[in-house]
Amino acid sequence: MESRLVYMDYNATTPLRPEVKTQMIQDLEVFANASSMHEAGRRARSRVESARASVAKLIGARDPERVIFTSGGSESNNTVFATMFHLGRKGSRRGIITTKIEHPCVLNAAAWLEAEGFPVTFLDVDEYGMVKLDQLRAAVGPDTLLVSVMAANNEIGTVQDLAAISKIVKAAGAFFHSDATQSVGKIPVSVDEWGVDYMTMSCHKLYGPKGVGGLYAREGAPLEPLIRGGHQEHGFRAGTYNNQGIMGFGLAAELANAELDAYMQKTGALRNRLRDGILASVPKCKVNGHPVSVLPNTLNISFPGAEGEAILLSLDLEGIRVSTGSACASGSLEPSHVLLATGVGPELAHGSIRFSLGRDSTEEEVDYVISKIGPIIARLRKMSTVAF
Ligand SMILES: Cc1ncc(COP(=O)(O)O)c(C=O)c1O
Repeated sequence: MESRLVYMDYNATTPLRPEVKTQMIQDLEVFANASSMHEAGRRARSRVESARASVAKLIGARDPERVIFTSGGSESNNTVFATMFHLGRKGSRRGIITTKIEHPCVLNAAAWLEAEGFPVTFLDVDEYGMVKLDQLRAAVGPDTLLVSVMAANNEIGTVQDLAAISKIVKAAGAFFHSDATQSVGKIPVSVDEWGVDYMTMSCHKLYGPKGVGGLYAREGAPLEPLIRGGHQEHGFRAGTYNNQGIMGFGLAAELANAELDAYMQKTGALRNRLRDGILASVPKCKVNGHPVSVLPNTLNISFPGAEGEAILLSLDLEGIRVSTGSACASGSLEPSHVLLATGVGPELAHGSIRFSLGRDSTEEEVDYVISKIGPIIARLRKMSTVAF
């Protein structure tokens, strides 16, 4: 097989869909300030509002007004934690509960609140990355202000039972937030079925532009702006509208909604083919994450006796782009906090690779990766001093 380029890092980010790219290039002409009262401003605003409706539809939110546009997942998550900071300072509830496997933007926001004196609990997960409901039940109480649990994990793909978690949180009278950055556009998302008060989205994970995202806040759920200024987004997020980004988000959401079933079927079949091919050609490797409750496109595998960065760079030399842990943590030599939380030891965690497939992935690409990974792991294992 000749050498080629294979992108399998779709959980880090996705390319712009051609349809979105074409629309965005045209929309560069839509320059009017969407808050201006003249005709051009009103026209831009109407496009922003139809994008809001498309995003709301994708997440099953009946009222598009409950969605505000932000710069992405990190900002949406931080807006929720900043809101809790303000509420907790004024009210009697101050307890924050989250999990050990959240994205760093949640973990660090929770650590900030902890440093500000809020009691913060980081829940464990089981060997598959699932929140332990008994531990959550024991942790929530009349002091709990917020529970934040990601819908699906970016590294291992485990999908939480948010409806069950929500029941526990609501029984304690706390707010429930979910970072659904990796779920929106990949699996069915319903803010009502999941019972969330707040939910985070990011457009660059669903074949739309970077630097734009969304935050859903249920009616009656308080919000405090992270960015103060003008009256955009009902005063919850100031700043002149990012017309092209928001309109690109709208189209990406509309297309993701229309193609969700096909996406899930396609990536799921390719992921299984990749998993089975790797397990057949590389002895002694271990699949991480939940076997069933998992994102269709995500496959995380530990290769004992081989080092993750070395695997990544060897695959890169063959034109294959994957990731060790999360893209945000790459460059750091720390083993993945997600794998450690599932009980994978530091050595094995260091030898783990995330393959994340996308709507453009093909069987030929999967077979190419399978053909390359066996010899790479065999070579690295030969050089390894670690027994496995
Ligand atoms: C689960 C999760 N949350 C949040 C983010 C951050 O989103 P953004 O890049 O839009 O700030 C990411 C991005 O990798 C993610 O995977």
